[in-house]
Amino acid sequence: ARVAVVISGEGSNMGALLYASRLPSSPYEVVLVASNNPDAPGLALAEAEGVATWARSHKGLAREAFDDALHEALAAARPDVIALAGYMRVLTPGFVRAWEGRLLNIHPSLLPAYPGLDTHARALEAGDRHAGCTVHLVTEEVDSGEILGQLPVAIQPGDTADMLAQRVRLAEHQLYPATLSAYVSRHQDAGWIEGQVDALAA
Ligand code: GRF
Repeated sequence: ARVAVVISGEGSNMGALLYASRLPSSPYEVVLVASNNPDAPGLALAEAEGVATWARSHKGLAREAFDDALHEALAAARPDVIALAGYMRVLTPGFVRAWEGRLLNIHPSLLPAYPGLDTHARALEAGDRHAGCTVHLVTEEVDSGEILGQLPVAIQPGDTADMLAQRVRLAEHQLYPATLSAYVSRHQDAGWIEGQVDALAA
């Protein structure tokens, strides 16, 4: 299956998805890394690894105009699935509808707990025993689509939000490639992936 990854920053999850895709057993390849931040460090990683990239700053563009440009760039790469990985913008309803069922995101909490930002500080504040991460389908309502996979991460005494974020990141790097692989394999078996791409890109 063809996968496009959309990032805004570091791109460590994109790196995890990319390197996992190069294992012989991977059912997917990364065909494009796109970003709303031309300075995202993850773009340099992708370029160094020979992956096509697309970047445009969203600044000064209306939300619809930016999402249209992103949609066009993605559609041209004919992905079966789009993986949001640290993409820090809320997508327009039209974009989400266009890629419905093919748009995945990773979120640094055990959803439905803590949608939105500052998840680790909120988990610590609440005295939770576990933080974690979730891969889910993207729907118009933020952080609330079907959950495809989760990994809990134990909170340790003395944890700060930064320390916790670092450990959750390790878990994310395991969860995302495994969940994406399972998702595309499931749909490949159903004949759903690699067949409807053109209709979607229209
Ligand atoms: C991750 O924690 C992800 O869950 C959140 O943003 C962070 C992105 O990190 N949405 P990276 O850019 O993949 O390193």
